[in-house]
Amino acid sequence: MTAQLNARGDVAVLVPAAGAGVRLGPGGPKALRLLAGEPLLVHAVRRVAAVSSVRMIVVAAPAADVEAVSELLAPIAPVTVVAGGAERQESVGRALAAVPADVPIVLVHDAARALTPPAMIESVAAAVRSGWPAVIPVLPVVDTIKEVAPAPAPSAVLAVAVGAEVVVGTVDRSVLRSVQTPQGFRHEVLAAAHVAARDPLTDDAGLAEKAGIPVTCIPGSELALKITRPIDLVIAEALLAHKVTG
Ligand code: CTP
Ligand code: MG
Repeated sequence: MTAQLNARGDVAVLVPAAGAGVRLGPGGPKALRLLAGEPLLVHAVRRVAAVSSVRMIVVAAPAADVEAVSELLAPIAPVTVVAGGAERQESVGRALAAVPADVPIVLVHDAARALTPPAMIESVAAAVRSGWPAVIPVLPVVDTIKEVAPAPAPSAVLAVAVGAEVVVGTVDRSVLRSVQTPQGFRHEVLAAAHVAARDPLTDDAGLAEKAGIPVTCIPGSELALKITRPIDLVIAEALLAHKVTG
């Protein structure tokens, strides 16, 4: 059944979905790869459309697949589909250009985070609504993190040969966070950050940071894992099979 969006909602959600999925291995654009029989993008858009404050969804699709993605999503929810760019930032910029100025809150949500619970998406929007200009969902870092450098001489030749590295420091992980999506912004904050952007970044809050905007963290969810490598697809399949969903 096609979801209805809320014409009086205050949120537009941009879904960058134009990546190649190189790290997932051969098999076509990642957003169109199947998870439990349905493309990742379908899983992601269904969850976005379940959020009651969402007025509009804009998907940035691989340029060659704009029509196919429009047809794929038509039965799921009313979605605007634009052609993505070579970098994620460009895909987000093109999707952002499709959002009318009177939508006050814009969320940017990776199609690759296909199992993100609607409640988490709404909590990001609610934090922006409460007054924060930029909001990101985060998780604590579980691994010990080391800073490394190429192994110094006299083993430099060996270092090049085998890619050897030495530890130069251990980072205090208690002050580190892993960042997820959706990332939420006041519309004008995200628009200004994209206009000011120089180098491509992998997240939109990084643009806001560079523009001097405070970025507020709220709790993320393990279910919002980014499907990146083949093992992530196996984990996501298992979560669905065991009905571990939000
Ligand atoms: N993305 C995009 N346009 C790009 C690159 C990425 O819209 N030019 C999207 C991806 O489709 C994904 C999200 O940004 O939903 C996060 O990117 P990532 O997980 O890196 O996906 P890919 O770039 O597809 O994967 P890889 O880096 O392994 O090729
Ligand atoms: Mg990528």
